[in-house]
Amino acid sequence: EYRPVDVFEAWAPVNIALCKYWGKRDAALNLPVNDSLSVALPDKGTRTRVTRLQGESKDIVFLNDQPVSEADGFYQKVVAHLNLFRLDRGDRFRIDTVNNIATAAGLASSASGFAALTRATAGVQGFNLDGKALSILARVGSGSACRSVFDGFVRWHKGEAVDGMDSCAAPLSQVWPGLRLGVLTLTGAAKKVGSREGMARTVETTPLYSAWPAQAEADIAILEQAIVDRDFELLGVTAEHNAMTMHATMIASWPPLLYWEPESVAVMQKVWQLRKDGVPVYLTMDAGPNVKLLFESPVEDSIRQVFPDVEVVKLFP
Ligand code: PMV
Repeated sequence: EYRPVDVFEAWAPVNIALCKYWGKRDAALNLPVNDSLSVALPDKGTRTRVTRLQGESKDIVFLNDQPVSEADGFYQKVVAHLNLFRLDRGDRFRIDTVNNIATAAGLASSASGFAALTRATAGVQGFNLDGKALSILARVGSGSACRSVFDGFVRWHKGEAVDGMDSCAAPLSQVWPGLRLGVLTLTGAAKKVGSREGMARTVETTPLYSAWPAQAEADIAILEQAIVDRDFELLGVTAEHNAMTMHATMIASWPPLLYWEPESVAVMQKVWQLRKDGVPVYLTMDAGPNVKLLFESPVEDSIRQVFPDVEVVKLFP
């Protein structure tokens, strides 16, 4: 009943969370402690082609046109993900995956990468999967990848089941044509602690973490209402406060998990000054030093004056 094909190509967008995923209740299945809510970046992400190999004993992986060695952690993650899809033990694939975002831009390509790999591998195997099934499979590769299966605003429902079969994302129906994301790439950043290790350290070492699940739940309800009402100030305040609260739990971990660089703090202070000057702009940050700005189209020029290097992304057509 499956109709495998020889080659299949798929695309998935990067997503930025307005209410963050931080903390796992099951590390092997990437089951989160809290729901999260993100918005997709329409033209930024990953294109992945999966080609069926004949008579090969190993999978072959190319990232951005460069071969990836078997010793590389990325190769091993890809092979582990392919294991979810093999129909017989002999199935081997060549993976060509290309990110159109520089890794230095601080936009995690693992979310778009695992979502695109999931779509492409399901396609090559002839599995006819719906969005929910694709989202569950992408989640096993990398938690936030479950949100990159969809466009626009997306909510990841944490679910209740121990097997994770109800932990998946679903798109919201609303669009917001004037909404913009500004990406600021900071240089000179130290190597960061990955999200897997960072989450575990936070959950295990800071008493502040116990306050996080309730705030995330409250924030997500407010964000959904702000999206329905197109209330930018409410969206911005809630997203920025949510990101700062996540970072507070990180900083209060031991050893401290401080993803901020001096340049990150300088950007925050400029954003807060802009707001004092009457420009509605808010910020969010993930597990790295880069700052992302949230604003609406009428203030784009004011933003560019203060941040000449900002890359502005239109989030909806
Ligand atoms: O999916 P992961 O393991 O890359 O974790 C993502 C964690 C954050 O980017 C900090 C928050 C989020 O919801 O994207």
